[in-house]
Amino acid sequence: MRVKHLRACDLQESGWYRGTLSFVPFGTKLFCGVMADKGRSHPLSDCRRTWKESLLIMKEKLKEIREEALSQILASDTLDKLNEVRVAFLGKKGKLTAVLKGMKDVPAEERPMVGQMVNDTRTAIEEALEETKKKLEAAAREEQLRKEVIDVTLPAKKNLVGHRHPNTIALEEVERIFIGMGYEVVEGPEVEYDLYNFEKLNIPANHPAKDEQDTFYINKEIVLRTQTSPVQARIMEQGKLPIRVIAPGRVFRSDEVDATHSPSFHQIEGLVVDKNITFADLKGTLEQFAKELFGPETKTKFRPHHFPFTEPSAEVDVTCFKCGGKGCRFCKGSGWIEILGCGMVHPHVLEMCGIDPEEYTGFAFGVGLERIALLKYEIDDMRLLYENDIRFLRQF
Ligand code: DAH
Repeated sequence: MRVKHLRACDLQESGWYRGTLSFVPFGTKLFCGVMADKGRSHPLSDCRRTWKESLLIMKEKLKEIREEALSQILASDTLDKLNEVRVAFLGKKGKLTAVLKGMKDVPAEERPMVGQMVNDTRTAIEEALEETKKKLEAAAREEQLRKEVIDVTLPAKKNLVGHRHPNTIALEEVERIFIGMGYEVVEGPEVEYDLYNFEKLNIPANHPAKDEQDTFYINKEIVLRTQTSPVQARIMEQGKLPIRVIAPGRVFRSDEVDATHSPSFHQIEGLVVDKNITFADLKGTLEQFAKELFGPETKTKFRPHHFPFTEPSAEVDVTCFKCGGKGCRFCKGSGWIEILGCGMVHPHVLEMCGIDPEEYTGFAFGVGLERIALLKYEIDDMRLLYENDIRFLRQF
């Protein structure tokens, strides 16, 4: 390496060369070597020429740096790689930064020109970096958009919205009919006193009706109600007359589960108490109810029956809405379908509930809600109503 021929005295003599050795990173070894050789032969006058030559070499070097940087920039296919190139050339220890650091050793009058050259190189590299960065960023964004593309033409996910249970649909229908006739909807407790569930309904201890309606006894006095009829007694006891209510709710019996029985089911009780209420009112009311529920062609039939809390009592049948009364599989050939029990409120019941039977009379009825739902929707097994099978329930 030619620089080793350079003597410190030469450098000091000329004054030009002060610090030239530390100029190495700026001018590169070759640049120093040239300076040194020339400097030694022509200590002073040749120094300027040396600088001119050196500048040429430096220009070459900067061109080299620029080309190297540009080709590396072009070859960068990711932002990370591009950043590596930036650091390699413009970073603290980068190639061009090294050249810049050497500027302090460049003679003052050459500095503008050298500076200009370095700056041009820097600007060129920076511009190329910026341009490529933009391209890569755009490509990255493009790629991301492509990956995260949302197909707006896809059908939206539907929220599954539940709907009313067939029991509820039937109940609301019954409520609608009676509200239309001026009835109020009331409720009573499911855990009920034996007193209301039986005694006040004319079913004293040891009455055979108690056997038919066996239930869960909380204790001797409290039961799970077997019917909604106790609501009658509770309403009458309040003493607000006249009364025109329906009382829907859950009831319980010690029944085995089968297609027509369940230990827990629902009833809708009806009660009217006023002056001059007769069996004709009961008939007219239930006829109207049956027509609204099952269709205007529906006929009703009152069959004498017995309930302890009504006298007289009846069971009501409606003409089969499937065959219109001719007889079919649905009505088991009879043309009639039983739908409820009813009667005139027993005077003793009125009395026990604080109403004077000489002044007031009333009628009552009790409908099985499940029975209505099964009939209306032609469901042949009551258990389906309690299984919560969505495939079944969504049909109503
Ligand atoms: N509670 C009776 C039962 O569960 C149904 C009933 C019949 C209710 C006649 C009444 C009625 O109000 O008058 O079988």
